[in-house]
Amino acid sequence: MKRKLPKQLIIALFMFACIPVALSSDTLYGSQNITDGQYLISSNGIFELGFFSPNYSTDRFLGIWFKVSTDAVVWVSNRDNPLKNTSGILNILNNGSLALYDSSERMVWSSSSNATSIQNGFSPVLQLNDSGNLILKDQTSNTIIWQSFDHPTDSLLAGMKLGKNLKTGFERVLSSWKNSNDPSEGNYICMMDTEGAPEVLIWDKDKIRYRTGMWNGISFSGLTQMISYGDLFTFSFVWNNDEVWYGFETKSNSTLSRVVMNDAGILQRLVWDPNQQTWNEFWSGPQDECDYYAKCGSFGICQPNNVTACNCLRGFEATTPTEWYMRDYSGGCKREAPLGCTARSDGFYELKGVKLPDSNNATVEANISVEDCKVRCLMNCSCLAYSPSDSRGKGSGCVMWNTALIDMKYMNGGPDVLYVKVSKSELGTSKKSQLVVIVVAISSAALVLLICFVGFLIRRKKRNSKQAEKSLVQKDSFKDADLPVFDIETILQATDNLFVTNVVGQGGFGIVYKGKLPSGQEIAVKRLTGNSSQGLNEFMNEVTLIAKLQHRNLVRVLGCCIHNNERMLIYEFMKNRSLNFFLFDAEKRATLNWRTRLEIVTGIARGLLYLHHDSRYNIIHRDLKAANVLLDEEMNPKISDFGTARLFEGDQAVISTETVIGTRGYMSPEYIMEGKFSVKSDVYSFGVILLEIMSGKRNQGNQNLVAYAWKLWEEQSILKLLDEAVESTTFAAELSRCVHVALLCVQECPDDRPSMSSVIMMLSSDNLVPPAPKKPSIWRSIGGFTADRHYSYESGSSSVDQLTITCIEGR
Ligand SMILES: *[C@@H]1O[C@H](CO)[C@@H](O)[C@H](O)[C@H]1NC(C)=O
Ligand SMILES: *[C@@H]1O[C@H](CO)[C@@H](O)[C@H](O)[C@H]1NC(C)=O
Ligand SMILES: *[C@@H]1O[C@H](CO)[C@@H](O)[C@H](O)[C@H]1NC(C)=O
Ligand SMILES: *[C@@H]1O[C@H](CO)[C@@H](O)[C@H](O)[C@H]1NC(C)=O
Ligand SMILES: *[C@@H]1O[C@H](CO)[C@@H](O)[C@H](O)[C@H]1NC(C)=O
Ligand SMILES: *[C@@H]1O[C@H](CO)[C@@H](O)[C@H](O)[C@H]1NC(C)=O
Ligand SMILES: *[C@@H]1O[C@H](CO)[C@@H](O)[C@H](O)[C@H]1NC(C)=O
Ligand SMILES: *[C@@H]1O[C@H](CO)[C@@H](O)[C@H](O)[C@H]1NC(C)=O
Ligand SMILES: *[C@@H]1O[C@H](CO)[C@@H](O)[C@H](O)[C@H]1NC(C)=O
Ligand SMILES: *[C@@H]1O[C@H](CO)[C@@H](O)[C@H](O)[C@H]1NC(C)=O
Ligand SMILES: *[C@@H]1O[C@H](CO)[C@@H](O)[C@H](O)[C@H]1NC(C)=O
Repeated sequence: MKRKLPKQLIIALFMFACIPVALSSDTLYGSQNITDGQYLISSNGIFELGFFSPNYSTDRFLGIWFKVSTDAVVWVSNRDNPLKNTSGILNILNNGSLALYDSSERMVWSSSSNATSIQNGFSPVLQLNDSGNLILKDQTSNTIIWQSFDHPTDSLLAGMKLGKNLKTGFERVLSSWKNSNDPSEGNYICMMDTEGAPEVLIWDKDKIRYRTGMWNGISFSGLTQMISYGDLFTFSFVWNNDEVWYGFETKSNSTLSRVVMNDAGILQRLVWDPNQQTWNEFWSGPQDECDYYAKCGSFGICQPNNVTACNCLRGFEATTPTEWYMRDYSGGCKREAPLGCTARSDGFYELKGVKLPDSNNATVEANISVEDCKVRCLMNCSCLAYSPSDSRGKGSGCVMWNTALIDMKYMNGGPDVLYVKVSKSELGTSKKSQLVVIVVAISSAALVLLICFVGFLIRRKKRNSKQAEKSLVQKDSFKDADLPVFDIETILQATDNLFVTNVVGQGGFGIVYKGKLPSGQEIAVKRLTGNSSQGLNEFMNEVTLIAKLQHRNLVRVLGCCIHNNERMLIYEFMKNRSLNFFLFDAEKRATLNWRTRLEIVTGIARGLLYLHHDSRYNIIHRDLKAANVLLDEEMNPKISDFGTARLFEGDQAVISTETVIGTRGYMSPEYIMEGKFSVKSDVYSFGVILLEIMSGKRNQGNQNLVAYAWKLWEEQSILKLLDEAVESTTFAAELSRCVHVALLCVQECPDDRPSMSSVIMMLSSDNLVPPAPKKPSIWRSIGGFTADRHYSYESGSSSVDQLTITCIEGR
């Protein structure tokens, strides 16, 4: 390859001819070159760049090493293409590329570069930074054209990133030398696996050899030794929509350290000991036999330094027991008792101090609490275990495993806890722990009493303040809700100035507009009408509450907007609007097949169970109706409209109110009559919705669906209830079960109605025979209400409030 030498270069050549000593600056300009025997040395003399030969080899390579330890080569340019003699030369080309030539001007290596960054007046300069980074910059624009940190060899230095750019796919990996005398690419690659919860993997050709385990906020789950060196290093683990990477910094610039993927397949953290003039290994992986990937197979857990390294997780047994105690066994374990897949039948046990299993297929929800994580995992049959995604403090976030748990190890302490789902039958308590349970139960009962008493005192105090009874959320707690506040301009812009064509619905307390944020996200804006009965209190109530609730069957609020008297809530937009829109529309109804209906029912039930029991707050919705069940693109139901929701404390089963708010047709008799409401009022509303979904008919006016269903039930002709838009009747048994459950839900006496967890169980279990429903009587006498109209009155001004409801046994 012929290249014309520019004039400056010739001058430079002349100069260098006069000065035969090695280059000892950290910088190389466009006109200069580096030949064998010349070096770049970083400004504080920490790193050196030049040509070297490994032990027992005459091949020459261009590389970077620590000045204090010339064996510690951290970067090699021409690793796969050695120079055979000392005639190599490094040049900066006019097009912004670094190039290494041999004496016959054959290019043995060149840096890739994005030529787009090369403009007029381009003036490249190469600098060896004190961090060990070789940087090629354009002096004119001061932009980086290329840097060695983007193209690591086998070493990770402070300030480098090991990981992947998720947008461009650009990846920085470490790959081992072939052996200590040959820097060409070896068998082992260390890279960031970005699927599921990201973790660092070592690959041996095409097989996983070792995992560090996912990042738990402090260290990698399987490398908890890192924690003890927190005073020497700061570790970074960045995971966002753009990139995932791990990196470290040294706290003092006198600490020299590197992480090496060595040629034996071990990832080592080495730290320079200036006194002994050696590198000390701080930690490494794989370290013991338990670190080798999937050593104990599925659902097996490995204990280092134990003759029987492998064991099955509790609740699991060896698939082939005879082989189990053989040390290399990897056949894994199988479940002893199958999961029932209901909240009743399954539970979790805690596995403390473990390396969390392979998270490649795991689902991560960093923003939810561990309590919510538990609920999600319990509610999802495919979830086999969960753990906090961040183990700092009490733990937060959520990782859920949906495929076999692989590659676990006891960490001898360590902050990570795995909650393994097993059938409740596996969670039996031993006598000793029963005693503990009793003691704990007694002391916690005492504690509860104490708390109740204190709560009572506080409550009494609060009552004296004017609004304590009506609003459960005080204004200041609004700030705690952590909810984004949108400004009015954004909302106006998104909704075409709240234009009338953007109206998508009229909710209980206002108009709902469709909008589109500049980011392209579609939103629903609920604008509370000026004379709406939803006051500031209800608004705050809804905002604060819903911001804290997270469940796939609850609508998600994205933010709120307050501007003078305007109050708006911004929700995620639901493509399929609401259930009533589908159910009571002759055409749309036909698209709801049986399966979909059943899934909607289950979804609503789950959402409601979450509200009642499983969220951190015990919540009564009070206005559950078809119009408040929104449907997303995939027809997943999401409960909305929390304006009337109320919190209740543990044993506060029934709450009385003077203001009855709700929708006739869905309101339970005791609520209408006596203003008493409880979770069972929601169960009643759920029963009505269930009947509506089955029949495709509204429970309204002279069409009393509850009475009608009861009549058919008595005549044993339940199939007649089914919406004629649903074609096949191959699911008579399922239908009959649904109606049965619905009738249980609408029983007159609240105590007779099942809880939502029983509802879910009854709906999902084929062989469970629910009790016979009692007659729902009161509805006949007070029929004739108009459903779907918002209803509110003060008791005392009503003519029906004289009626009281009596629950007579065995009616
Ligand atoms: C590189 O510089 C040396 C002097 O340091 C000179 O002898 C040699 O010709 C130069 N080579 C190229 C290709 O510029
Ligand atoms: C090269 O050989 C020397 C002397 O035997 C030894 O101290 C050094 O560690 C070796 N370097 C490498 C990279 O193996
Ligand atoms: C150096 O090796 C190259 C081949 O890599 C060869 O072309 C060249 O002649 C050799 N130079 C010397 C001085 O041996
Ligand atoms: C720069 O030029 C060299 C030699 O002409 C070529 O091999 C290299 O690919 C070029 N680099 C870029 C980024 O265009
Ligand atoms: C060079 O390294 C120093 C620390 O050694 C760092 O502060 C600086 O940002 C680096 N420069 C570049 C351009 O990366
Ligand atoms: C060019 O490469 C550098 C270093 O890899 C990078 O920082 C920069 O963003 C790239 N520029 C373009 C335009 O791609
Ligand atoms: C550490 O940083 C200080 C201040 O930046 C500098 O004076 C000193 O030379 C550095 N030491 C080393 C070993 O780089
Ligand atoms: C080895 O594992 C067995 C079975 O789990 C256990 O009973 C035993 O205590 C373990 N031994 C040691 C030294 O940890
Ligand atoms: C992840 O899922 C794929 C496909 O189901 C499966 O082949 C693989 O073994 C799973 N990985 C783990 C670690 O469970
Ligand atoms: C999670 O919470 C963080 C901090 O509160 C926030 O920046 C981020 O956008 C949230 N992510 C999601 C998906 O909600
Ligand atoms: C259960 O979890 C799996 C895996 O994350 C997910 O694909 C599925 O949608 C979940 N099902 C429900 C009902 O949430």
